[in-house]
Amino acid sequence: MQIIKAKDYDHMSRMAANVIAAQVILKPDCVLGLATGSTPIGTYEELVRRYNNGDLDFSAVTSVNLDEYKGLSPENDQSYRYFMNDHLFKHVNIRQDSTYVPNGLEPDSAAACAAYDEIIRQAGGIDLQLLGLGHNGHIGFNEPSDVFETDTHCVDLTQSTIDANARFFASMDEVPRQAYTMGIGTIMRAKKILLVVSGKAKAQIVRDAFFGPCTPQVPASVLQLHKDVILVGDEEALSLIP
Ligand code: F6R
Repeated sequence: MQIIKAKDYDHMSRMAANVIAAQVILKPDCVLGLATGSTPIGTYEELVRRYNNGDLDFSAVTSVNLDEYKGLSPENDQSYRYFMNDHLFKHVNIRQDSTYVPNGLEPDSAAACAAYDEIIRQAGGIDLQLLGLGHNGHIGFNEPSDVFETDTHCVDLTQSTIDANARFFASMDEVPRQAYTMGIGTIMRAKKILLVVSGKAKAQIVRDAFFGPCTPQVPASVLQLHKDVILVGDEEALSLIP
């Protein structure tokens, strides 16, 4: 694993954008695995800035996102499709029909997940997967568990996640209870993985995930077994690593 220590969040975002930009420049028709969440927002802003400067061309890129809430439409501003449109896709020249997010409106979980794995397989697999890190070590919606789930699957959101999301919805009934997520096997098959972490609150889990035992109780710890991982973190997030 390669660790890149950045000064602060903005520096982390520029360093992460360097890795993604290099991927797009070296292989213009690459498959990018993308993430939502607060950490990569600055990275996406930086990529948009470089696109606007004429330094990046996304016209041949395919993207596959990690996860989506089951039951949310792309128009719902809490959906991950909406997030990606808002933060990246509508600002660059990626073809909308080459951007994939699990279909939250497919009620048949098995069908939704199998279709998504097939999309990734047809695309030829993921060249570079961008990941954030949950406070409990989750990647995508792969939460701590007794096993590593390999393929795209449907997860039941924990009550704490449901409660935390409630503020974004008009009523409790509208809060998603489940999500579709890429599995650990799919993530591990990506040729290269870029993980972004920022802030003191992530320091302990960064240490546990990358310097503790490899266990499904800390899903990100499986990345210790991948041969090409770049961890880009700011000083606070990396402050507890040995
Ligand atoms: C996002 C995702 C999640 C986040 C993680 C960290 O698509 O799958 O695993 O990467 O929850 O989120 P932030 O960056 O908000 O701390």
